[in-house]
Amino acid sequence: MKKVIELRNVSYDYKSSADERTTGVKNISLTVNKGEFVVLLGHNGSGKSTLAKLLNAFLIPDQGDVIINGINTKEEKRVFEIRSKVGMVFQNPDNQMVASIIEDDIAFGAENLGVERQELIRRVDWALQVVNMHAHKKRTPFKLSGGQKQRIAIAAILAMLPEILILDESTAMLDPKGREEVLDVVRKLNSEQGMTVILITHYMEEAVDADKVFIMNEGEIVASGSPREVFDNEKAVYEAKLELPVACKISHMLKKDGFDIPSCLTVDELVEGICRL
Ligand SMILES: Nc1ncnc2c1ncn2[C@@H]1O[C@H](COP(=O)(O)OP(=O)(O)OP(=O)(O)O)[C@@H](O)[C@H]1O
Ligand SMILES: [Mg+2]
Repeated sequence: MKKVIELRNVSYDYKSSADERTTGVKNISLTVNKGEFVVLLGHNGSGKSTLAKLLNAFLIPDQGDVIINGINTKEEKRVFEIRSKVGMVFQNPDNQMVASIIEDDIAFGAENLGVERQELIRRVDWALQVVNMHAHKKRTPFKLSGGQKQRIAIAAILAMLPEILILDESTAMLDPKGREEVLDVVRKLNSEQGMTVILITHYMEEAVDADKVFIMNEGEIVASGSPREVFDNEKAVYEAKLELPVACKISHMLKKDGFDIPSCLTVDELVEGICRL
């Protein structure tokens, strides 16, 4: 399996003045393989966005190394290359719109990478199809719903053909329908295009079908593994001030009360588990 992201003992502090430092992330080591769907969970201020910014060389570690596709982010001359491979979608869809017509908005980033006209047109059409927004091509992005705007933001990143897509709480401002629309697109990109995805979220439910889950607390990774492994580690979840997904919580409660039920990730699994009792 090809490693696309590798962090070795990475620490980063924010220096607000000569003697004032805030921990961003502390001693993080992790690897992500090509095509994996990774979910990063953590309470406010736990270091998730700092970690994301270390991945696209927006921040450079104080200690340790961040290696993207074999390139160390400390190699200043290759920062542009790294940024073109690591696409980021942020929380507020309105802050990511740059043009008043959707197709121009989507072309912008790729155009800045120097993509020539014919290829640009092809990429914009493809990206719009992937996010299911092709019908809106000539329209303005400003009147879209939050979920549609985030899909446009994803398309703008896709047109740059990144290898890694990072979504930093990109569903946080959306209603449940918008959130589902965006997650559907991201899952499809992962399963059909083999894109490596790092999804940063507060919503525990979004982690249940990930390949790997990391939980952060106070700048450190305090739990990692498959969703089941991570959510079975109740202590780490609660210490990180997070809640288990509802189905998981109920299955653990039933188990503690003596019922013979496996640890469940989804409501469907819970229903099945209860029916078998
Ligand atoms: N620009 C900055 N200057 C100083 N401190 C910062 C800065 N950005 C983040 N921090 C601090 O670094 C720590 C980690 O913040 P970070 O934004 O990475 O957390 P987060 O998990 O993304 O939080 P949230 O869920 O609120 O987005 C926090 O203590 C935060 O206050
Ligand atoms: Mg953040």
